Amino acid sequence: MLKFSAVTGANSRFASDNSQNTGLVCVFAGATGGIGAGTIERLVVMLQSATFYVLGRSASRFAAQRSKLESLNPSLKIVFLEAELSLIADIDAVSKKILDAEKRVDILYMSQACFPINVPQYTKEGMGIDLCFALQFYSRLRLTSNLLPLLRNSQRPRVLTVLSGGKEAKMLDEDIGLQNPQNYGLAPAISHCATLTTLSLEYLAENDKQITFMHNYPGLVSTDLFARLSAPESFGILGKGLFAVFRFVAATLLKLFGQSPLDSGARQVFVLTSDK
Ligand SMILES: NC(=O)c1ccc[n+]([C@@H]2O[C@H](COP(=O)([O-])OP(=O)(O)OC[C@H]3O[C@@H](n4cnc5c(N)ncnc54)[C@H](OP(=O)(O)O)[C@@H]3O)[C@@H](O)[C@H]2O)c1
Repeated sequence: MLKFSAVTGANSRFASDNSQNTGLVCVFAGATGGIGAGTIERLVVMLQSATFYVLGRSASRFAAQRSKLESLNPSLKIVFLEAELSLIADIDAVSKKILDAEKRVDILYMSQACFPINVPQYTKEGMGIDLCFALQFYSRLRLTSNLLPLLRNSQRPRVLTVLSGGKEAKMLDEDIGLQNPQNYGLAPAISHCATLTTLSLEYLAENDKQITFMHNYPGLVSTDLFARLSAPESFGILGKGLFAVFRFVAATLLKLFGQSPLDSGARQVFVLTSDK
């Protein structure tokens, strides 16, 4: 792993290069918490007169974060677009707003998250899509495809999806979305999302060679990824009890051994801005 001092050094150089850091249009999904919040906080101080579209569930919950970001860089313009990011209809609606308002997008960052548990949880769209697949793969791919026309207009377009780059594995080709509950499980859900993401980005990169598509694995980061888990309705009392123990242990280990979201954010910003 690159030394943290090399990361911060490169970020500082980008922050002092007005030919690169001025007037960028950035779209962030999954930045109202966790690694995304750390990434946006690190990035806003490096840019001049940037526009940020932040896609998330609640404008009122974003208010405090917005004030903090605006105080860090008063030249920012932040547009919050409310969206339930697990729904393709919401992704399409916010994409349309960005397409209507902008001529280009320079940075697209995505880390909307869901940790898979052993049973699928379906989204409200009724297509039999599991929530974790929806948040971590389908919504990100749809947002990327929708915004391609604007990314193509950027001098230096970057797309980063923070998930599990490097954790790809052989897939069940006849059920790539693990829509058959008997195929669903923690390990296949993680590896399928990783593999689908990498293959999709490779496919997009073939057609748009000037766009840099990146799939990153962040390592352990002390976020609320485990703390926010809730047991599926189908679990009985014993299942819910065991689940609570698992959640407590996993969340505690993440807090103890994970790097901070701000440190991870600096690393995400490095891959978004450096030439390496
Ligand atoms: N943390 C780690 O140690 C770790 C390790 C390996 C890989 N990863 C991967 O890195 C990515 C980011 O993880 P993280 O730890 O930053 O996750 P996190 O702390 O749980 O943050 C999740 C973000 O996604 C948003 N989100 C979740 N469900 C949403 C929904 N239905 N609609 C709209 N937004 C939604 C949350 O918004 P709200 O504020 O509305 O909740 C929040 O901004 C994930 O894909 C994860 O699998 C993380």
